Amino acid sequence: MDTLAGKRIVLGVCGSIAAYKVVQVARDLTLAGAQVDVIMTEAAERFVGPATFQALTGRPVLTDMWSLPEDGVIGHVSLGMRADAVVIAPATANTIARLAAGLCDDLLTTTVLATRAPLLIAPAMNPSMYEHPATQANVATLRARGAYVLEPEVGRMAEPVVGRGRLPEPADLLAELRALLGRQHGPLRGRRVVVTAGGTREPIDPVRYLGNRSSGQMGYALAERARDLGATVTLISGPVALTPPRAVTYVAVETALEMRAAVQAACTQADILIMNAAVADFRPAHIAAEKIKKHGDAGMTLQLVQNPDVVGELAHRTDIFKVGFAAETHDLLANARSKLQRKGLNLIVANDAIASIGQPEITLTVLDGEQAVELPRQLKAEAAATLLDLIVARFEQWLLARQPRAGEIAD
Ligand code: C5P
Repeated sequence: MDTLAGKRIVLGVCGSIAAYKVVQVARDLTLAGAQVDVIMTEAAERFVGPATFQALTGRPVLTDMWSLPEDGVIGHVSLGMRADAVVIAPATANTIARLAAGLCDDLLTTTVLATRAPLLIAPAMNPSMYEHPATQANVATLRARGAYVLEPEVGRMAEPVVGRGRLPEPADLLAELRALLGRQHGPLRGRRVVVTAGGTREPIDPVRYLGNRSSGQMGYALAERARDLGATVTLISGPVALTPPRAVTYVAVETALEMRAAVQAACTQADILIMNAAVADFRPAHIAAEKIKKHGDAGMTLQLVQNPDVVGELAHRTDIFKVGFAAETHDLLANARSKLQRKGLNLIVANDAIASIGQPEITLTVLDGEQAVELPRQLKAEAAATLLDLIVARFEQWLLARQPRAGEIAD
């Protein structure tokens, strides 16, 4: 289930041309199951009409400090008190300045002053206005007070100017909001989760490599879900055709040896390792310095050496909850169970490689030392969410089992 479902979000819209993008944000939040109360500043109404937001959220749009909502409580108090998060997008230089000064001369600034909910601010403005020391000082003030202020994106503005001032895309704003809500209440808040994804590339010569068909989709979806449940996530990825998720630490690697170094570094401080990457078992023994040429019609033999078992090498790290994957073409459960033991894993997730490659859906079976749980066949993104929820449940049981019982506490 989407972590935004059932959340009460106050969406403050200010007077910037980027307000048109926030129409989609209001729509996406509502479709995700959130209850969205839009507050517009007077200037915002010059760019987008309240009727647009009202139709998309199915809720009255508030523009005036003195209008009473249907429950009769003065708007600025009740909205702020009930909100799970307040999002200001686009946030103009003017509203940022008024928030930094603690002013409350319209409904939006009053709501912000009255709420104790987390505040996500997405500035969007002319790049010179954003760079101005006054705006920078105001942003720093808001951050120091605990507001989460996003950096605007670099790109072409509405006027023919290129610079830092663009509002992030709607999907990115939702991702940042999910991450923020997760850090407040999610079951993984305060936890560090390392996820590996994609396949490795083992170079043969400067232009060729040995690779595999891993798309990285499952690993990326697992990393996003862990982030949404509140974890600080490091995603270590082989080369894939996916955009790195927002609000995670992203480490790009190519070879198994690079993957090993990145995993070891990230695991110095990790609670959970989800080893989803398809790490090549072998690499060429020698990398040719120049492109290998054909010689007549002779074939060629490539000599391979074994790569280290990245997760297997961490078998001694019994302080980390480790999850591995086994994509098998035969003897699925027997092979998975033997890997679970050999690699010192807490859980292994098995799937039929042939039945899942290139398919939108996947059937996963999760094994620990004793039992095997088959998850229902699902779209891959949904399967990742179901799987991560199960990993969290098992992680919590594992934590409880590791806690010293009363009387056993070491001195
Ligand atoms: O042995 P196999 O490659 O099937 O094992 C799969 C599991 O082991 C996956 O979790 C994979 O990420 C991990 N693995 C590894 N290092 C390797 C090969 C696989 O950590 N060299």
